[in-house]
Amino acid sequence: PWSADRASGIIAEHSHLEGATLPILHALQETFGYVDSGAIPLIADALNMSNAEVFGCVSFYHDFRKEPAHGRHEVKLCRAEACQAMGSDALHREILGRLGCDWHGTARDGSAHVEPVYCLGLCANGPAALVDGEPVAHLTADALEAALTEVRQ
Ligand code: FES
Repeated sequence: PWSADRASGIIAEHSHLEGATLPILHALQETFGYVDSGAIPLIADALNMSNAEVFGCVSFYHDFRKEPAHGRHEVKLCRAEACQAMGSDALHREILGRLGCDWHGTARDGSAHVEPVYCLGLCANGPAALVDGEPVAHLTADALEAALTEVRQ
């Protein structure tokens, strides 16, 4: 959930960067799944910008969500050895690429949050994952995409 304290920490981490607005907005979206309106004055303050300028930036780039995604899914991908032997590394790269996020991150469209796990006891049927707590065996990028679309509607 949104936390002004956590947001301030993230903003402070990035505010020294040149053109810090976009890196900050991306980091906020990665962490919270969207850019809360409460972050606007914090960013404006840190970067000596007006609220309107920051808000304009959030609105201009369609990547940024202004509210939490409804029905965001929790995706846990197994990175342990047996799944690696079934090609999980390449699969995870593809999945993260499609979602447009990294480990511990939130998909660009807000549809899913991705965490690594280390063995789900499905080693014989890897690559394995949990989607909203449901085990998925023989995971493929297409199957995951289908699963995310299906439950989203
Ligand atoms: Fe992936 Fe056991 S190593 S489920």
